Amino acid sequence: ATTRHEAEAAPATCDGTIDSNHSGYSGTGFCNAGNAVGAAAQFTVNAPAAGAATVAVRFANGTTTSRPAGLMVNGSTVQSVSFEGTGAWSTWVTKTLTVSVNSGSNTIRFSPTASGGLPNIDFIDF
Ligand code: GCU
Repeated sequence: ATTRHEAEAAPATCDGTIDSNHSGYSGTGFCNAGNAVGAAAQFTVNAPAAGAATVAVRFANGTTTSRPAGLMVNGSTVQSVSFEGTGAWSTWVTKTLTVSVNSGSNTIRFSPTASGGLPNIDFIDF
C-alpha cells in the first residue's frame, strides 16, 4: 500500500508558496516553489523496511522547458529527475521513481538544478 503525502501538508515543506490557482490538484493545493536553483519541495516518508521503494511524484509544468531537479534521499542526491513540460499548468503528470531507503523515517527532497526551479508539485505517493 502507498501513502499519499500532499506537498501542502506538514511535515512536507515548500520553498515557495502553496497555491490553488491551477485545477486538477489533489488535496487543498500544490507547492509552487521559487524559480531558482535549490528552491525545493521536501517530504518525509516512513518505510517499513530498508531497500528499494517506489516514489510516484505528481507535477505540472506549463512551460515547454524541462525543469530538472536532483532527487535527494536523506540529504544525498541519488538521481536527477527531468520534469518535462506537461502542456499546461492544469495538466498533472505522475512520474514513478525507484529509490533506496532506510527502514523508518526518510526525507525525499526535489532540489532544482536550473534557474526555472521546480515544476508545481502536487504530492508524492510512497
Ligand atoms: C506561472 C504559474 C505558476 C508557476 C510559475 C512558474 O506563474 O501560474 O503556477 O509556478 O508560472 O513558472 O514556476
